[in-house]
Amino acid sequence: MSLMIIGSDRAGEFYQNTKAIAPDRAVVAFPDIPDPAAVEYALAWQAPPGELIKFPNLKLIVSVGAGVDHLFRDSNLPDVPIVRYVDPDLTTRMTQYVVLHTLLHVRRMTEHLAQQRRNEWNVLTEPMPGEVRVGIMGLGHLGQAAAGALQHLGYRLNGWSRSEKSVDGVSCYAGGDGLGPFLAATDILVALLPFTPATKGILNRDIFRQLSTDGQRHQRLPGPVLINAGRGGLQVSGDILTSLDAGELYAASLDVFETEPLDAASPLWSHERIIITPHNAAESAPESITRYFLRQIERLEAGKSLENIVDPAVGY
Ligand code: NDP
Ligand code: OXD
Repeated sequence: MSLMIIGSDRAGEFYQNTKAIAPDRAVVAFPDIPDPAAVEYALAWQAPPGELIKFPNLKLIVSVGAGVDHLFRDSNLPDVPIVRYVDPDLTTRMTQYVVLHTLLHVRRMTEHLAQQRRNEWNVLTEPMPGEVRVGIMGLGHLGQAAAGALQHLGYRLNGWSRSEKSVDGVSCYAGGDGLGPFLAATDILVALLPFTPATKGILNRDIFRQLSTDGQRHQRLPGPVLINAGRGGLQVSGDILTSLDAGELYAASLDVFETEPLDAASPLWSHERIIITPHNAAESAPESITRYFLRQIERLEAGKSLENIVDPAVGY
């Protein structure tokens, strides 16, 4: 019986961590697999499509990330449970990212930095915290944690999800009918959705135009803001640029892109009101991920239920 690490540019670290934490377990790293029939558990991130099916005794796939779209790119996945990564390490990092970027835009930091480069001392108007409505698309593990932290800063919170929800201090909207009212009540749009057929390209110009412009009208916020830390496939990059240039968006923070790494020639890089990070909003420590992988294996072996099982029918 062996544990396999497959994909990920951090595979070496997962391999070493697994051997150190569970020295009695046999660990192998793809593509160096002496006996495919011995592989029972896989820790995977962007495994090459068509490979996971080649392990006839595979019982479990654990995703290195909270997102599992990297697995569903494979149209021939084995029919075994998929567990996604949910952990305080990841959640805290993502909460920090969302809080950081909300503050950056509410406090107009892209403009302050531009002023600094011009040696210019100029006070810009800023809203009171209670005037700012942050709308989180994807009110799951990460969305709810970020909402909690933003409430402590005095912001008003909206959330949008697939199913109806009730979350303390958050005005909740759901489904297609809830989307319009959610956007109309939102100044800062935070995307923490999974990438699925239903969410592909959802961050487009039509959506940006439905965001509230109350802040602009009352000269509190220069305009709506987009923060995307979900997946690149959610966004239409050309629409982000068009909406920024048309004043439909004031600023954007983008951690994820349709193609990663982002092409050096992309116009997104040089836009003065876009902040780009290299898909590291919540880059968890390999040790936390390895411990989570081993915990799921132990649970399965002990006959306990797995945690955070993915529903292949909805893709997250
Ligand atoms: P969860 O599964 O806990 O939450 C997903 C949320 O999205 C749920 O509220 C779900 O609704 C909602 N949702 C899904 N599909 C739709 C839809 N079609 N319409 C409306 N709402 C929808 O996931 P997490 O919070 O753990 O993670 C969210 C995503 O964040 C991941 O899938 C991943 O893509 C991304 N991520 C990015 C990272 C980065 O470093 N940039 C790091 C980690 C994650 P419902 O509650 O009704 O099911
Ligand atoms: C994730 C990610 O899905 O890091 O966890 O993108």
